Amino acid sequence: MIMAERKIRVYGDPVLRLKARKVEDFGEHLKPFVDDMFETCINNEGAGLAAPQVGESIQMLVIHLAQDEQEPIMLNVFNPEILESGGNIAMTEGCLSLPELREELERPEKIKVRYYDYIGKEYVLETDGFLARVFQHEMDHLKGVLFVDHLTPVRKTLLKSKLKKIAAGDIPQ
Ligand code: CO
Repeated sequence: MIMAERKIRVYGDPVLRLKARKVEDFGEHLKPFVDDMFETCINNEGAGLAAPQVGESIQMLVIHLAQDEQEPIMLNVFNPEILESGGNIAMTEGCLSLPELREELERPEKIKVRYYDYIGKEYVLETDGFLARVFQHEMDHLKGVLFVDHLTPVRKTLLKSKLKKIAAGDIPQ
């Protein structure tokens, strides 16, 4: 199997602002794309990567979380939907499409999410902590939302010139 790292789209690329379409034809034909997504995520040291970030406007994301002395958590996630969420917690986020930016923001602490793998098998997962945070961040990408959109107007104003530089390609990935 030849895997290929995909080019990551950065802030300013219109594909990051589209609402991604649902995947309806599951099956083995999706496996090469899943492999490419994991390769791209891992090579760039991301905890997660959403398909729009490589230019594919479909409801798909991968999560790759290293764990101490255990196999990493690796999830391929299609058409995810939050069924329930609760609590509120501040955590620092970064994004491969927003190089060099890290900002703290609040989101629900716990989520219950339904999703499908590339074969079309359904999963319902209740989780919290960093995994819940990664799910929510990556799911935002499927709606055309970036984590900076959640910041206060003051923080956004302070980041304006940095965001302009990213959009202009002046910040190396
Ligand atoms: Co991101």
